Amino acid sequence: MNLVERIKEKARRDVKRIVLPEGDEPRTVKAAEAIRAEGLAETVLLTAEAIAAPENKAKRDAYTAALFELRKAKGLTEEGAAKLVADPMYYGMMMVKEGDADGLVSGAVHSTGDMLRPALQIIKTRPGMKLVSSSFLMECPDRSLGEDGLLVYADCVVNPCPNAEELAHIAIASAETARTLCGIEEPRVALLSFSTKGSASHALVEKVREATAIARSLAPDLLLDGELQFDAAIVPEVAALKAKGSPVGGRANVFVFPDLQAGNIGYKITQRVGKAECFAVLQGLARPCNDLSRGCSPEDIVNTVAATAVQAQTA
Ligand code: ACO
Repeated sequence: MNLVERIKEKARRDVKRIVLPEGDEPRTVKAAEAIRAEGLAETVLLTAEAIAAPENKAKRDAYTAALFELRKAKGLTEEGAAKLVADPMYYGMMMVKEGDADGLVSGAVHSTGDMLRPALQIIKTRPGMKLVSSSFLMECPDRSLGEDGLLVYADCVVNPCPNAEELAHIAIASAETARTLCGIEEPRVALLSFSTKGSASHALVEKVREATAIARSLAPDLLLDGELQFDAAIVPEVAALKAKGSPVGGRANVFVFPDLQAGNIGYKITQRVGKAECFAVLQGLARPCNDLSRGCSPEDIVNTVAATAVQAQTA
């Protein structure tokens, strides 16, 4: 079974309710049919018209009041809250916040920022998690790499410039994603740099070293190491030369990039040059919400809904 099949199998075992705020978008409608047929999740297709219907007034009012409470300290008025709740994206987030849905998937129409901002403002981070980040699950044709060809890359979507502490939290969250979503029993985390174990000195390298130390203190049982160059992290022969004795050198399956430029470029190179299949999930939210690429196919939506449902099982 490939990764997507494994995720679908898991989603079917404990069916969750996933809201799709782009409920009249044709690829989303098609995906919802497939999701039902495959028994992956119960979907709620939202449209502005359905939200505005008179029989929905009580829910709309309840969400408006809850959103106002949540954001009034940030300057949101009751009128402003009512306006936001009329928007399926915000209504969907409130459904998840209030426990009327287990997760949300959007992004066939909306940009990443348009979906991320309400998720960060309303759903917020899980207790104990400092920030929301993302993992890209990369399935490479070469099965000798990572975990039987599977590589987890982070953060490639959310945080432009994480500091050392944030990078440490990204490393820990990514290991958890590797475990819960990918079924990787032993995440081996490499914190990446252009230096391996002191081969270069620079403030950028120092940040990765500091992040490694913080992650170790926060998760002493996790196999992780840094700073490592990508080749030292993934190629055993290079690790033997450059990172002797490293607990993950040459056999890492989770790769933490030092910033968003490196992460985003890295996943696209792996996808385009390395011919890897990939999809992204957000991690660290109190309840799962995931973003799609605007070029997504109905199948991509199905897969992301299945992944969201699996994340909801442990949220
Ligand atoms: N984790 C948790 N909360 C966060 C995070 C985070 N990583 N980032 C921001 N927040 C919170 C803030 O604390 C704030 O909360 P508050 O309003 O309750 O105080 C709220 O989110 C808004 O914060 P801002 O800093 O005002 O957010 P901003 O509008 O600058 O945008 C965003 C945040 C959207 C995540 C921004 O960092 C961003 O655009 N990131 C890059 C997204 C992107 O374009 N990715 C690449 C393309 S995707 C791809 O290639 C697949």
